[in-house]
Amino acid sequence: MTVATRLVVRGALHVPGDKSVSHRALMLGVLSEGRTTIRGILRSADIESTAGTLRAAGWEIPPLAPEMTLEGRGLAHAPASPSHLDCGNSGTTARLLMGMMAGFPVTATFSGDASLSRRPMRRVAVPLTAMGARFDLTEGHDGLPLTLHGGHLHSIDWTMEKASAQVKSALLLAGVTGHVAVVLREPAASRDHTERLLRAQGAAIDVGTGMIVMDPPTRLEPIDLTVPGDPSSAAFFACLAAMADGGSLTIRDVGLNPARSGFIAVLRRMGARLEVVERNDRGAEPIGDLLIRPGHLGNTVIGEDEVPSLIDELPVLACLAARAAGETVISGASELRVKESDRIATVVSNLRGLGVEVEERPDGMRIRGTNTDLVGAVRTHGDHRIAMAFGVLAAAPRSRITIDDRDCVGVSYPEFWRHLESAVA
Ligand code: S3P
Repeated sequence: MTVATRLVVRGALHVPGDKSVSHRALMLGVLSEGRTTIRGILRSADIESTAGTLRAAGWEIPPLAPEMTLEGRGLAHAPASPSHLDCGNSGTTARLLMGMMAGFPVTATFSGDASLSRRPMRRVAVPLTAMGARFDLTEGHDGLPLTLHGGHLHSIDWTMEKASAQVKSALLLAGVTGHVAVVLREPAASRDHTERLLRAQGAAIDVGTGMIVMDPPTRLEPIDLTVPGDPSSAAFFACLAAMADGGSLTIRDVGLNPARSGFIAVLRRMGARLEVVERNDRGAEPIGDLLIRPGHLGNTVIGEDEVPSLIDELPVLACLAARAAGETVISGASELRVKESDRIATVVSNLRGLGVEVEERPDGMRIRGTNTDLVGAVRTHGDHRIAMAFGVLAAAPRSRITIDDRDCVGVSYPEFWRHLESAVA
């Protein structure tokens, strides 16, 4: 492999549908009364995990398709007691489904792949237990497998220790299926797709500063939903264009939910030229096009306040920082340690392996940008966002980088490598 000296980006692309919205569209679709239409759902392994677990619980989910309809069975329909719900690699499937199933009188065992089995589940199991669900957990192990015994919930007023959309959504879904009120207090705003969809379905949800109050809905209206392009997928291409020597790249129909688009402000701060053409609200979510041109990149500081709005983008922003002048500091991001891999450790060890000076910190890292050739082999640990972040760095000038597991991108973005090729002139 040769070291490319120049990178020119070009053209326009559509990234696949938002992963977070796609999970929720299926779950809330089957709970609604009547026909839900979903356009642009993400077709990836994680969404197949949600579709598969819902089918295993007895709901009818047709094959994932660019335009699909679901026949919701309503809140009165109790699912079958599934013996086994395999959540694959998907934390959102496991955590949201634990909440959704907790409101029904069922017993279900949740499992996942090796990565998901290690990820913390007590953050959901503890508040669901406070609502009246019961769990069989393995002593000394915070992860999967676990068995849930649902039904007979009571209302909850819960203060969350960390901003987590998965925990928040699990508790809201438990309130919906268990017919009980939910009051949540969040230390910082996490993505609010569940609240937006529930509201579009007619549920009464009040959102104040740091507080969410939901009265249990008696029914959920079916909706017609177009899933926006995933901003977390768009961020890879925005960073690629920012690192290029020339050209421009347009990414169309990207979700611009403020709780997801923190990377835009970071890219601008670092010197990328990024224009946002906001269009209309696609139902529950704002969308628009991003136009990105390269810039002279400099360092930045990403702190605790910004982290929830760009948590999944930190690996690629760290790769961008490796090519920016000066030192970039990321802090308040210890949650990265419990993602599909320990993303602080995997980013730091891979950047170091390529010759970048990086300091690992408990809650983040300090990266010194460099202009020298970056050469080496990246170990993804099966983590899709690590593969794509370093895939972007590999496509940038002065890189000779191989990636051990390119196929792991299939959990969120199966077309990634093809799109990467097409974006590079
Ligand atoms: C997600 C929430 C975030 C995010 C994950 C998807 C969601 O996790 O990192 O990729 O769809 O709710 P946390 O809720 O653990 O912060």
